[in-house]
Amino acid sequence: MFADMTAQKDPIQSFYEKYPHPDPMKELPAQVLSGEARLEGCPSWCFHVYWPLRKFADELDVLIAGCGTSQAGIYGASLPQARITAIDVSADSLAHSTALCLRHGLQNVTHKQMGLEDVGGLGKFDLVICTGVLHHLDDPDAGLRALRTVVRPEGSLNLMLYAKYGRAGIYNMQEMVRRIGVTAATSTDADLEAIRAVVRSLPAEHPLAGKVAMLPEINTRGGASDLFLNPRDRAYTVPDVYALLARTGLVLQEWYGRAHYEPSCQGMKGPLAARAEQLPVAERYAVGELFSTRILRHRFVACRDDRPPETYGLTPDRPDWQSLIPIRHRSAQFDRTNQPPGRSPWVVLQHFRQDGIRINFEPAEGTLLERIDGQRTIAEVHGGTVPETARAYWQKLFRYDLCWFRMATG
Ligand SMILES: C[S@@+](CC[C@H](N)C(=O)[O-])C[C@H]1O[C@@H](n2cnc3c(N)ncnc32)[C@H](O)[C@@H]1O
Repeated sequence: MFADMTAQKDPIQSFYEKYPHPDPMKELPAQVLSGEARLEGCPSWCFHVYWPLRKFADELDVLIAGCGTSQAGIYGASLPQARITAIDVSADSLAHSTALCLRHGLQNVTHKQMGLEDVGGLGKFDLVICTGVLHHLDDPDAGLRALRTVVRPEGSLNLMLYAKYGRAGIYNMQEMVRRIGVTAATSTDADLEAIRAVVRSLPAEHPLAGKVAMLPEINTRGGASDLFLNPRDRAYTVPDVYALLARTGLVLQEWYGRAHYEPSCQGMKGPLAARAEQLPVAERYAVGELFSTRILRHRFVACRDDRPPETYGLTPDRPDWQSLIPIRHRSAQFDRTNQPPGRSPWVVLQHFRQDGIRINFEPAEGTLLERIDGQRTIAEVHGGTVPETARAYWQKLFRYDLCWFRMATG
C-alpha cells in the first residue's frame, strides 16, 4: 500500500497558507512607486553595496526566494528594468503577490510555486533575495546551498535571518503560549488578540517589553502568528551567521545596519570597550550583539566564496582610500534643531524597524559629511590634500553606517 503523498503538506506551507505574511497590501505605497522608498537592500538605491566597482544598472536577474505577498511587487516597481523571478511554496502568498503585480501593471515579475530547495533549473541570477525564510526551513543549510548554485560568480545574496539575543523575549512568549495550549493549527483570530493582550501586560523587565515598538507586525494576523506561533523558528548569533555561510560555500560581503553591531556606537564604555575596538570585525560584531541585545534580525549581503575579494567590501582601510567615492546612506538626515555649541548639526540615521542613531561631529567633519554627493572622491570632498589623520573619520562614518564606498567606473 502506498501513502498518498499529495495529501501531506509541509507544516510550514500549511502555516503560510493560513497566515500569509505580511498581510497582503492592497496597494503599493506611493513612495515605492515613486522610487523614494528606502527599502533596505534594494539595489535601486544601494546598488554599490553589492557591486562597488560597477556602473549602476538595474537590468539585473533577480530571484526572490520565499517572496510572500508583497516583496516581489515592491522589487518589481523599484527595479523596472530587472527580470524578477519570485518563488514561494504557498499558493495563497503567490496568489496575493500575482494580484498585486497585476494591479500595478508590473510586467517584469514571473511567479512560480516551488520550494527554494529546488531552484537548480531556474537559471543564474545577479541577486538572490531571501529574507525571513531560511530560519523557518527544516534544513536552512540545504536551502542556502541550493540558492548558492544559482548565484552568478560575481553575484550576491541579500539575506535576513532572525537574531538570537534580540528575540529572547519572543521565545519566552512562544513557549508560554504553547504551554497554555494555543497552536498555529488550532488558533483563531481571538487567540491572536489574546496573545496581544498578554504582550501589552508584560512586566517592564520582560525582554520583549521594550521591543514591541520595533515589531509593528504584531498588529497583523500573519505577523503576530509568525512571531508567536510559527511551527519552525530558529535564530542565529553573529558567529552562527559566519558559520552558516562557511558551511554553505559563501562569505559575508556586507552587513546592513552596521551601527547596531559596533560596540562603541552602542555606547559601550571603559577599558573592555577599547579592547573590543581592536578586534576583527566578526569578533567585534559578536561583542556588539551581546552588548546591545536589541538586534532582532540580521540583514546582510553574502557572496560565493570564490568571488574575487577585490570586487566588494571597499573600506577606508585600503592604501588608496582617498580615491574612494563615499555614498551617504539615503536615510541619513541632518537635524539642525538643538545643535550643541561648537558641534555639527545632529545626524540622524533611521534604521529599518530598529532604533536609529543620532550623533554629531566637529563642525568641519559635519561639513565633510554634507559634501558627500556620491560622485566626488574623498580627496575631492576635502577639496585638497587629505591628511592621513582624516582616515579615522572616514572609517568612523563607515562603521556608523552613514556611508559606504564605490570606485569611479570611468
Ligand atoms: C515570513 S515570509 C517572508 C516573505 C518575504 N520574503 C518578506 O521578507 O517579506 C516567509 C515566506 O517564505 C515562504 N516559504 C517557506 N518555506 C519556503 C520554501 N521552502 N521555499 C520557498 N518559500 C518558502 C512562505 O510561504 C512565506 O511566504
